[in-house]
Amino acid sequence: MGSELVDVAGASQEALYASIDLELSWSEDQLPQAQRTKHVHGLHPYLGKFVPQLVEVFLQRYFRPGDRIYDPFAGCGTTLVEANVFGADAVGCDISAFNCLLAQVKTKRYSLGELELGLRGALEEARRSGRSTRGGGAWLRRWYAPQALGELLAYRRAALRLPPPYDDVACVVLSRAARSARLTTHFDLDFPREPVTGPYACRKHKRECRPVAEAWKFLARYTTDTVQRLRTFATVRNAGKVEVVHADARSMELGGVSGVITSPPYPGLIDYHEQHRYAYELLRLPDRREREIGAAVDGSSRAALTRYVTAMSDAFSNTARQLERGTPVVIVVSDSHDVYPSILERSGLSLEERITRHVNRRTGRRAGEFFEDVLVCRVG
Ligand SMILES: C[S@@+](CC[C@H](N)C(=O)[O-])C[C@H]1O[C@@H](n2cnc3c(N)ncnc32)[C@H](O)[C@@H]1O
Repeated sequence: MGSELVDVAGASQEALYASIDLELSWSEDQLPQAQRTKHVHGLHPYLGKFVPQLVEVFLQRYFRPGDRIYDPFAGCGTTLVEANVFGADAVGCDISAFNCLLAQVKTKRYSLGELELGLRGALEEARRSGRSTRGGGAWLRRWYAPQALGELLAYRRAALRLPPPYDDVACVVLSRAARSARLTTHFDLDFPREPVTGPYACRKHKRECRPVAEAWKFLARYTTDTVQRLRTFATVRNAGKVEVVHADARSMELGGVSGVITSPPYPGLIDYHEQHRYAYELLRLPDRREREIGAAVDGSSRAALTRYVTAMSDAFSNTARQLERGTPVVIVVSDSHDVYPSILERSGLSLEERITRHVNRRTGRRAGEFFEDVLVCRVG
């Protein structure tokens, strides 16, 4: 989950700082947000993404162009994108259908002219069609103003009429607009709990604001931004093969793989399906949240941690059994519960190096001092 988490209150800060590999502890100045969200990395918000530059470092350290890199917890595809830029093939799986859609859209190759024509055409078609809210379920009607929902549903109809693979790109534009158009405050787009229907004191803008009532401006803005990001990525990407599989890491079948770079979900922190609920509702994606490992709803009780260790050990031993002895497996974790020594042992992975990274650039509700570890392991 790189870059995200975990507060180390109580741990000796001095001891942690002492073990930090400075090269991975980039400051905001050294690695500004624009770099962390460059080209397709900024295609859609996603909580729990690791910084692409971290992947870049480990690709260069352990792999060569032409290798095939695996990410068993592919998320929105950071490893897959960076592996492609590096010149490697990549394969990833994720239990969340929306994350797979996002990773696929980022890594597919497009005819850029057709892509732009298709997306602009979908926007126009949606603008011309009516704004009926028919087809929107109870959840959507609760979280959107009627006008916004009508616009999102009109765009959905137009998006789904596009030929593949452009329909999927339009679905990502739709999801991003749907995220912005929810009935929530400007400062709580990550974890809104209840819809906000009236004026509110905005912590972000320091004045009274109102929840959003329309979606067009977002659909138009994200159409332009998406085309631009995919165009930029096309200038740095390679022709390597990228495979995204909607699967459980515990049963994923691999084929030949040169190594792993991944960041698994941490126990009890994020609900990966729920964070994109709007996309599941609008796109009617299959929901497999009961297979999500370490979901926030499970909490971090002793029983939940035991379940987490078993599930993660199953995922990594399923990976390790398909790799040759000595294959590098790089795992970015925030192991505040100290469960990884046991997970690695149970998975047949031996720890070669543990690099602590200082992450200090979160804003909003997740601001603060965070540390994470890069566990460099070998199969064997
Ligand atoms: C920390 S995120 C990975 C983020 C990724 N490194 C990126 O930058 O986008 C962990 C991912 O594990 C996925 N996940 C949870 N349980 C899983 C399972 N049983 N099999 C595969 N993926 C799973 C979640 O859906 C989530 O996308």
